[in-house]
Amino acid sequence: MSKVKDISLADQGRRKIEMAEMRMPVLMKMREIHSKKKSLEGISIAGCLHVTKETAVLVETLKACGAKVSWSGCNPLSTQDDIAAALAKNGIDIYAWKGVTQEEYYWCIDQTLKGKPQFTMDDGADLVFTLHKKRKEYLSSVIGGTEETATGVHRIKAMAQEGALKYPIIAVNDAETKSDFDNVFGTGQSALDGVIRATNILFAGKNVVIAGYGHCGRGLTSRAKGLGANVIVTEIDPICALRARMEGFAVMTMDEASKIGDIFITATGCKDVITQRHMQSMRNGAVLANAGHFNVEVNAADLKFISKSHREVRPENEEYTLRNGNRVYLIAQGRLVNLAAAEGHPSEVMDMSFANQMMAILRLSKEGKKMKPGVYEISRDQDQEVARLKLASMGIKIDSLSDEQLGYMNNWQEGT
Ligand code: ADE
Repeated sequence: MSKVKDISLADQGRRKIEMAEMRMPVLMKMREIHSKKKSLEGISIAGCLHVTKETAVLVETLKACGAKVSWSGCNPLSTQDDIAAALAKNGIDIYAWKGVTQEEYYWCIDQTLKGKPQFTMDDGADLVFTLHKKRKEYLSSVIGGTEETATGVHRIKAMAQEGALKYPIIAVNDAETKSDFDNVFGTGQSALDGVIRATNILFAGKNVVIAGYGHCGRGLTSRAKGLGANVIVTEIDPICALRARMEGFAVMTMDEASKIGDIFITATGCKDVITQRHMQSMRNGAVLANAGHFNVEVNAADLKFISKSHREVRPENEEYTLRNGNRVYLIAQGRLVNLAAAEGHPSEVMDMSFANQMMAILRLSKEGKKMKPGVYEISRDQDQEVARLKLASMGIKIDSLSDEQLGYMNNWQEGT
C-alpha cells in the first residue's frame, strides 16, 4: 500500500535515484555485501525520514537486504514527490507527499505502524514520540531504533533521562562520519542552496547572520564566507561563541545583529531565536531562513502579527510588508530551508550518514533484543570503517602505523 501525490512522476524520480546511487558508493557497497547475505531477512522497519533520492537509496538497500519497509516523511515540506512515486512504484509501502497538513503528517506515520514494525528509523523523533504517546499498542513489538539528527537525539536523551524511553535507540547523528560531514558540509551547502533557489540573492558583500555555531552553524559560516559574505555569528554558548570569534567571525547578540543583517539563517535547535523584537529593527529587504529541524527558530507567527500584508513572490519565498513599511522575506515558512527550498544534502555526504544507519540497523537486528532501553553510540570501529570505505571510494590511500610506532604510542615510559 502507498499514498503519494502523483505516481506518474515515478520515472523522473527513478532517474534521480540512479544518479544518487552512483554518488553513494559506501552505501551501495553495503547493499552489495548484505543483499547477498540477506542480512535483514524477515525484519520489519518503519522509517520516518525526509523522502529524498538519498533516502530512496537507503530504503531500497534495506529492502534488497531482506527487510520489509514502510516509510513516511519527517517534515511537511521536505518530501520530493517524484522520489515518493518511484518508491511506491517499486512496491515500497510509502505514505508521503509535499505539503501534508499536520493531521495528514501523523496519519502517514500511523500507516507505517500498521505492519507492527520491529525497528524504527527516525529523523527528529516524531515516530518515536508517536509510538510512546499515541500508539502505545505497537510498542511491544519494537526491538530497537535509530535516530538521524541532533534535534532527535536531544529529544530521545531527554526521554531516556526521565525513564520514558522504552527501547534502545542508536544515535546515528553522533557518529563522527555523520555529524562532522553531513551537518557541516551538507547543511553548509544545502541551506545556502535553499536560500539561493528561493531568492537568487547574491551573498557576496552581504551581512549574513548565522544563529548557532554548532556543526551546522560552522558549515554555514564557512560556505557563506566562501561566497564573499561578511559573516556574523550569534550564540548562547560562551565556548562556541569564542570559537566563532577565533575562527574569524564577528560575534554579537541577535539584538545587535538584527539591525545590520541582510540574510539570517538559524541553526540552533531552539525556539524563538528571531522574534518580532528583532524583526522590527531589521533592514528593508532582510531574508529569513531556518536550517534547524523544527519550524520554531524564526517566529513566523510574530512576523505575520507585525505585518500589514504578505504574498508569495517566488516558490518558497513569502514577502511580508511590515507595519513600519519595511519588507522582510521568509523562506519556506521558516521550515528546514535545505529540504523545503532545495533538495537536502548532496548524495556524497548522505552516503556516510546512511552507511551509519545501515551499520546501526545491522547491529540492532543482531543484538537489539539484548540491549536495554537507552541511547547508544555508533561504535568507534564502525565509524572508522565508514571513513575507510569512503576514502577507498575516493581513491585515497592513507598511512598506517608501523609496529614500532604502535609500540611507541602505547608506551607511557618513553619521554624526553
Ligand atoms: N537530511 C538532510 N539532507 C537530506 C537528504 N538529502 N536526504 C535525507 N535526509 C536529509
